[in-house]
Amino acid sequence: MRKFLARSVALSAVALLALTACSEREGSDSGSTGSEKGFAANALIGVALPSKTSENWVLAGDLFTNGLKEAGFQSDVQYAGASTIVADQQAQISAMITKGAKVIIIGATDAAQLSTQVEAAKAAGITVIAYDRLITNTAGVDYYVAYDNFKVGQLQGEALLKGMKEKKPTGPYTIELFAGSSDDNNSGVFFNGAMDVLKKEIDAGNVVIGSGQTDIKQVATDGWKAENAQRRMDSLLTASYSSKTLDGVLSPNDTLARAIITSVKGANKPLPVVTGQDSEVESVKSIMAGEQYSTINKDTRNLVKQAIQMAKDLQGGKDPETNDTKSYNNGVKVVPAYLLPPLIVTKTNAVEAYANDPKLAPLTK
Ligand code: BGC
Repeated sequence: MRKFLARSVALSAVALLALTACSEREGSDSGSTGSEKGFAANALIGVALPSKTSENWVLAGDLFTNGLKEAGFQSDVQYAGASTIVADQQAQISAMITKGAKVIIIGATDAAQLSTQVEAAKAAGITVIAYDRLITNTAGVDYYVAYDNFKVGQLQGEALLKGMKEKKPTGPYTIELFAGSSDDNNSGVFFNGAMDVLKKEIDAGNVVIGSGQTDIKQVATDGWKAENAQRRMDSLLTASYSSKTLDGVLSPNDTLARAIITSVKGANKPLPVVTGQDSEVESVKSIMAGEQYSTINKDTRNLVKQAIQMAKDLQGGKDPETNDTKSYNNGVKVVPAYLLPPLIVTKTNAVEAYANDPKLAPLTK
């Protein structure tokens, strides 16, 4: 059971109790939308996305709107706003249920705060697909489609070690850890994946956390916001690096990686090896310029395509294809998942990695 962030469970223990009772009555069906399968070819498909905390979410909205139209569906694609994001997304999902959506695809703002809406969708015979981020504490989520996010974390951990070794062949190495927002289930998954790789080195004394902050609660970045990561990096530099050298920083994504780099530059310190994720334009430029060390390619086009394929299968009365039925326990059930493979990208393989991406390929020339 590698992929579950316990905090999400603690947050809504009450909801969990209610849902456990409910799921016991309903049994453990996974993915069936009732006895009648399939629905009209031009049915409404709802897509509820979080706020635009990284480029992948911005891209996903357009790709869903166009892709669902091409597939013959009607679509309702919504983003949660920036302020009351949880309430926004809850209201958007409720509206999609009222409008008669047949499938609702959700990139959750807060993994643990959607059980009421997801249960209501389920009761209305709607199939719920968790997109990129798992929805926790509910039996109502039918499928999960995502890149293998534990693997993302492992790749980040490996890249951090490799990058530091390239710069300085022998350790020990001094690093700092950053994690994503604690309301996003992925944050724990990325962090656990990275720690799966780093822990052995930390235990052996080859890697030292300069500040001593190793708990995900200490290293989380609220709302995935750049300013929060930058502020924390500023304090870490002041508190722990007046004489020590910082060799590396585990950053869970590109937005935070650039904030960390900005902080280090502002303090006039040498740049550490910094990891990332998402292949954002500015980070790919930074990698090519030799600043950020790595990113992850989780091509949003393929993820959206896979989610739309699930909707098409459901429309045709078929069970969508899944390739992992054991890893993603959401606290109530194991959610059948279709996982895509993430790719680590550094300056060394950027040309091949982005060869078929018209936006990124020119940046690597
Ligand atoms: C996504 C990442 C993204 C982060 C912040 C995560 O759930 O998987 O790709 O960087 O959210 O938007």
